[in-house]
Amino acid sequence: MTRFFPQEVIRKKRDRGTLSPEEIAFFVKGITDGSISEGQIGAFNMAVYLNGMERDETTAFALAMRDSGDVIDWNSIGLSGPTIIDKHSSGGVGDEKVSLILAPLVAACGIHMPMISARGLGHTGGEVDLMESMGCHIGPPSEVFMKTVADVGCAIIGPTGRLAPADARIYYVRDVTATVESIPLITGSIMSKKLAAGINGLVMSVNFGSGAFMTTIEDARALAQSMLGVAEGAGVPMVTHLGDMDEVMGDAVGSLPQIREVIAFLTGGPREARLEIIVMELAAEVLVMGDLAPDLGTAKSMLAARLADGSAAQRFGRMVAALGGPVDLVGAPDAHLERAPYIRPVFALGEGSVARVDARAVGMALLSIGSGRTRPDQSIDHAVGLTGMIHVGDVAGPERPIAMLHARDEAAWDRAAAGLRAAVTLADAAVPARAVLHDRLATAL
Ligand code: URA
Repeated sequence: MTRFFPQEVIRKKRDRGTLSPEEIAFFVKGITDGSISEGQIGAFNMAVYLNGMERDETTAFALAMRDSGDVIDWNSIGLSGPTIIDKHSSGGVGDEKVSLILAPLVAACGIHMPMISARGLGHTGGEVDLMESMGCHIGPPSEVFMKTVADVGCAIIGPTGRLAPADARIYYVRDVTATVESIPLITGSIMSKKLAAGINGLVMSVNFGSGAFMTTIEDARALAQSMLGVAEGAGVPMVTHLGDMDEVMGDAVGSLPQIREVIAFLTGGPREARLEIIVMELAAEVLVMGDLAPDLGTAKSMLAARLADGSAAQRFGRMVAALGGPVDLVGAPDAHLERAPYIRPVFALGEGSVARVDARAVGMALLSIGSGRTRPDQSIDHAVGLTGMIHVGDVAGPERPIAMLHARDEAAWDRAAAGLRAAVTLADAAVPARAVLHDRLATAL
């Protein structure tokens, strides 16, 4: 039997070699059982960051990380088949609410969506923060998670130590060694956790723009292709759409402001145009992948019917209650969702059409007043954020503020308002709205 050594695996990658599946499995096993040190993980990450991985290496890496812990077996509770599908987004500002709308909506059509998600970090938010802001348990016992998926059709929780534990160690080291932005490392990290959830299909928006990890559409396409390669290697069908996050998604940012937007969307309230497009398009892909609709047009009609008859809103309420949140949240949101004490409109310094909204700058302005975090262990202020966000193509002026800013006090409001004003660029001429979804790429499965 061949004996491997961590330093030889690192050396090979450092010298631009191609690692075998056995070398990768050895290294990931050592990360999991603690026999490989943080220093060695850091060196490995940097070698991958600088020299990349071939498609087969990335696949072997993601699958080894998937197998570093449990893989959920839905058969054990009598669930099987194409309806077990997850949806993922590679991040954006205000984009995390998409999952909270989409999961109950597709569940109301017969999908089972086990979503193991993450907290927000830096300028991007995370679904888990939104769940926590409603009082849900984000680390319930696995029986509760599985039963909720089986009975309600969806559950959104945080990472568990049992699924893909190698990723948790690698991610921690990436965060402190400037090796986060690597396509093979991002691919391995995301795909290992998604595949460990035992899914039979995956729909993903891989995003680009100032609000996303990948700033250009070319980088987003490369990341999407890398993840599709892993899905193909794992035999799991996957569809990706390249999503524009060069402005804020929807009308709200921050945890509780977004929960109100989710409830409004599901109960027939206002739906921001780009948000509605992304939800309906990705949800339709899920229904077709799950063999519940023959084509995207039929799927969209089914989704519209579930929104209109209230069943999607009801699923959302049931998911929240099953995970420990209030049982009457949809019917009585004001009884449960705190509002920040200082809410005022922020007006632009001039008048004109919005030519650009720097989503990252919006995220950073809100982070500076507590609605985000710069370290994974920081807590966030769920009531802080904004609503009524202006979009590219809208006309800003005395009648139309940039947004309503929700802050703890006047000093915090002033700080974030300055950041919001700086994030918006105005033009004299009319500006067209930005398309939200671009290329669609899919596995050949
Ligand atoms: N989300 C993850 O889980 N991992 C990454 O590397 C990036 C985003």
